[in-house]
Amino acid sequence: MNFPLPFGKMRFHVLTLFPDAFRIITQYSIIGRAVENGLVSVQAADIRQYTTDRHGTADDYQFGGGPGMVMKPEPVFAAVGAALDDVPGDDRERTPVVLTSPQGRLLDQKLVDELAAAPGMVIICGHYAGVDERIRTGLITHEISIGDYVLTGGELAAMVIIDAVSRFVPGVVGSEENVQEDSITSGLLQHPLYTRPAEFLGMETPDVLRSGNHAEIDRWRRHKSLERTLQFRPDLLETAPLTNSDRAYLASLGWDGGQNA
Ligand code: ADE
Repeated sequence: MNFPLPFGKMRFHVLTLFPDAFRIITQYSIIGRAVENGLVSVQAADIRQYTTDRHGTADDYQFGGGPGMVMKPEPVFAAVGAALDDVPGDDRERTPVVLTSPQGRLLDQKLVDELAAAPGMVIICGHYAGVDERIRTGLITHEISIGDYVLTGGELAAMVIIDAVSRFVPGVVGSEENVQEDSITSGLLQHPLYTRPAEFLGMETPDVLRSGNHAEIDRWRRHKSLERTLQFRPDLLETAPLTNSDRAYLASLGWDGGQNA
């Protein structure tokens, strides 16, 4: 996907049983500021508003029997239709309709990059035992999991997606360089960070960081990134862009080039 130019506002439409929960991201911190500055919008609609019975029933028993309720298709289709109606015509085709579920594709930085190229997205927060299959087959473009564990509902997953994608909207984080140079985006874990005081509870900061020798500082940071990645996420070394000197350093630490991974 190409980045749309010029960059417009990134619009998130969330369909949820708990719209108030989204105040957490719209009113605080970096995403809150982005919303205030008009770089990002987060509209949380209550799926129950799109139910047609008196009780606002969004779920029902499963055909075939079994424990656990299933999200009904009609209110979800109606809610997605209303959300897409709110998307400017040109952008509608390029707006992913995401379902959060533990069955989905695992969210990683690559998927975040893909989603960040869209003008916005509609996110359906899954609930109960799951959703009626026709929501999957007839409505959504992406099914996304934020990890191999089961949450009580999709709201936190939706917030994770919104947060990770919003960082790529120009102006949301300090400078774009920051985002591109981040750990994981660079393929390696981050090196250790230190700030003042230089000595704290008997623990000192490495002299090299206060040496003023930038070539040495860069080398130290690169080595620490490589050490950490080897220790905690050796799988990342398979795909990280490594120089010959990175490889030599890793070999000196006992890395076998990933042959036994
Ligand atoms: N809903 C429940 N568990 C989830 C998960 N791990 N990711 C996304 N949505 C979920």
